[in-house]
Amino acid sequence: MASYSYLTTRPSYSLISLILLLSFALLCVSFPAYLQNPLNPAAAGVRGCFTATTNDAVAPAAATTDDQDPEQLRILVGVHTVARKHARQHLIRMAYALQQTPGPSAARVDVRFVLCARPMPPEHGAFVALEARAHGDMLLLDCAENAEDGKTYSYFAALPAMLGERERPYDYVMKVDDDTYLRLEALVETLRDAPREDMYYGVGLPFMHRERPRFMLGMGYVLSWDLVQWIAASDMVKREAKGVEDVTTGNWLNMGNKAKNRVNIYPRMYDYKSAEAEDFLENTVGLHQLKEDLKWAHTLEHFNATRLEPSSKLNI
Ligand SMILES: *[C@@H]1O[C@H](CO)[C@@H](O)[C@H](O)[C@H]1NC(C)=O
Repeated sequence: MASYSYLTTRPSYSLISLILLLSFALLCVSFPAYLQNPLNPAAAGVRGCFTATTNDAVAPAAATTDDQDPEQLRILVGVHTVARKHARQHLIRMAYALQQTPGPSAARVDVRFVLCARPMPPEHGAFVALEARAHGDMLLLDCAENAEDGKTYSYFAALPAMLGERERPYDYVMKVDDDTYLRLEALVETLRDAPREDMYYGVGLPFMHRERPRFMLGMGYVLSWDLVQWIAASDMVKREAKGVEDVTTGNWLNMGNKAKNRVNIYPRMYDYKSAEAEDFLENTVGLHQLKEDLKWAHTLEHFNATRLEPSSKLNI
């Protein structure tokens, strides 16, 4: 069972917080270099624009990490997206929130939207600030928004400092595209028995190399926390930060003689083909190439995410 950290506290809005928010949003927009994104702002205290408030009604959802079960599997999923795609972020947020299963949880999956702070036109900055305040799930990095320009490096390299106080805040960190839909339970189930260290997981190329694929496709891949720390500390990786995103990550690990444990989940994460039932695998971990809303609709329908209670008045 994957427990999911969205919306565990329900934001309550007031005029005062809105005014506060708008002033913070303006501050953030005027001083983009100041933007920081603690993943666990409630525990970390005031560390950035998005959390510089005393209103705990909008405290982000990660507030409960301190009393977590040490046996619980912890996974950070970073959805790499861009500021202007508000509607897509909203859809993805709901798609994952609905996969939350109540009850005793053996895993915790934190989903965050990963953006670069440059460029950040004022209207986008304000919306990002709103979403951060309302949902606590935006992660803004000090980088230029360009997939081949080192965003993935900025993401992994920033995490140890952002999460500094904790020795191992997450067991695994995932990078996923914003046109990928993950089935969180399947993700958790495949990671539960995976090595916790020196581990690189995803759809590997070449597909048939189960033990040692050269790299994992960029639609979604996972690194164990020790590899995230290694990326953050390595001068070699810093020099090699740019390039075709997924190949580049594989190159770092190959050059550094890292990731001895590689988990190739091919074909369980794959490109969308059609709405036909036979084009979806039963043991799907993720679907990719969901560029259009209609493809999201087909996918969510297939996996029963859109089923309404019989009592629902909505007729569609
Ligand atoms: C969706 O629900 C139906 C009816 O309960 C079930 O038969 C089907 O297997 C479900 N589909 C998936 C992908 O879980």
